[in-house]
Amino acid sequence: MATADIQATETVPWWRGAAIYQVYPRSFADGNGDGIGDLAGIRQRLPYLAELGVDAVWMSPWYPSPMADAGYDIADFRDIDPVFGTLAEAELLIKEAHDLNIRIIVDVVPNHCSDAHPWFVEALAAGPGSPQRQRFWFRAGRGPTGDTPPTDLQSIFGGPAWTRVTEPDGSPGEWYLHLFAPQQPDFNWEHRAVWAEFDDILRFWFDRGVDGIRIDSAAVLIKEPLPRDEASYTDRDEVHQVYRAWRRISDSYPDERILIGEVWLPDPARFARYLRPDELHTAFNFAFLNCPWDAAEMRRCVDETIFAHAPVGAPPTWVLSNHDVTRHVTRYGRQNTSFSFETRVEGVPLDLALGERRARAAILLTLALPGAAYLYQGEELGLAEVEDIPLDRRTDPMFSRSGGSNPGRDGCRVPLPWSGTRQPFGFSPDDAETRSWLPQPAAWASRTVQAQTGDPGSMLELYRAALRIRRAESALGDGAIRWIDAGEGTLAFTRDPGFTCVVNLSSGAVALPEHMKILLASGSTANRLLPKDSAAWLRTR
Ligand code: GLC
Ligand code: CA
Repeated sequence: MATADIQATETVPWWRGAAIYQVYPRSFADGNGDGIGDLAGIRQRLPYLAELGVDAVWMSPWYPSPMADAGYDIADFRDIDPVFGTLAEAELLIKEAHDLNIRIIVDVVPNHCSDAHPWFVEALAAGPGSPQRQRFWFRAGRGPTGDTPPTDLQSIFGGPAWTRVTEPDGSPGEWYLHLFAPQQPDFNWEHRAVWAEFDDILRFWFDRGVDGIRIDSAAVLIKEPLPRDEASYTDRDEVHQVYRAWRRISDSYPDERILIGEVWLPDPARFARYLRPDELHTAFNFAFLNCPWDAAEMRRCVDETIFAHAPVGAPPTWVLSNHDVTRHVTRYGRQNTSFSFETRVEGVPLDLALGERRARAAILLTLALPGAAYLYQGEELGLAEVEDIPLDRRTDPMFSRSGGSNPGRDGCRVPLPWSGTRQPFGFSPDDAETRSWLPQPAAWASRTVQAQTGDPGSMLELYRAALRIRRAESALGDGAIRWIDAGEGTLAFTRDPGFTCVVNLSSGAVALPEHMKILLASGSTANRLLPKDSAAWLRTR
């Protein structure tokens, strides 16, 4: 079925209430046995995603890349890295997903490219003052010999945000800006060629049938002429011009093609500006992901989110995990249940059973809130952060560039366990001789899709049931909520018609509110009591 046909059967635009599953291609499924996930693997597993009940899949970058930042360093925005497959396979994948009623979202990274991108290679060769260098941020260094970086700006991954180049004649030369790793030179969005290039990239993927674009680092494209601190590149007013132009492109397609921003901003009002009717359709709500497991804080976060989205008419979104943050089973099993990049740690005391109980409750909360929800691969299996990856197998530049003080993001990117009792747990074909690119914990034998399928107490079956109900319930997805009182330390709200969600974050059991039927619960509901750290969905009319 073509996307247009799916559309016609719905009244609310699909994306306003979608459950969107993030595939991290390197770690989803390995079709050819080299230990790295690929498009063949994803295509084989599309029926799994259809059965899980998600509406769309967002693919983390699959483009040609030297993989200095796991593919977020892109050398060619219009092709597929050979380790993942071919462009022809990507086109098949899009078609096969559509046949299963799953929409496809691709990741576009407009802030930077790879240092192997032809434009950057040309810029290095062309030398100082050349038009080729103007597509990037080349500046002279400070000091008599220019050996001090243009400013003291630090990269988001640690270390200086400027790297000095060697000029074509062999002399030490200019410096270029990279907000992330040195292998990720920033584009200069003052340059028309950069705009034109991305207009074309968007069309390239929309023309291949993709239903949406996830925009990486969306708030940092525009910079002051000499960036010296975070404020000189974060959330500059001119960045909205970019997204207005992009919206005109997505609107030029007859069916709904959406733009989703990765916008990390603490101020919900500034965040909502990206969602004005002529800009992005939605953006990730990281406030929810950062929020501790605490009823008052969660309620404040939900209210602020809904309040900020209302004036611009955009649906809220809800995210618990992604490929950058500590998996939420682990976060919720710790004393400090909030997330921040600065305080990310490994090895502090952890109660995994507690984390899992809360994660089960959290997904019922997430999927009952109004708007769209993002699920990160593996959370449906209840995977915890892997915190014992040997140091010499870690690949994340956040780890290496911080000198190891930041554990990095490898622990949430470990290949998925599908079946069997030994590594690679069906991630690679049985006869594969290569180990998976990151090691999987032996304990994942009980976490495989195979082991959890049909077990009514498993995380996977909870996700399947919740997504099934969410699709069938007209009350869920886009819309409004009304808080009700279910006692201190609980979150309870109703959605019309006749649906109530209760989450107990207090220290003891609470009585379930009046109801006709329990649709789903994350734990026991014996004696009409909801134990702590659990949630229930109720039919209340
Ligand atoms: C985004 C991505 C992250 C990447 C960074 C640089 O934050 O989610 O994985 O490292 O941008 O592209
Ligand atoms: Ca492979």
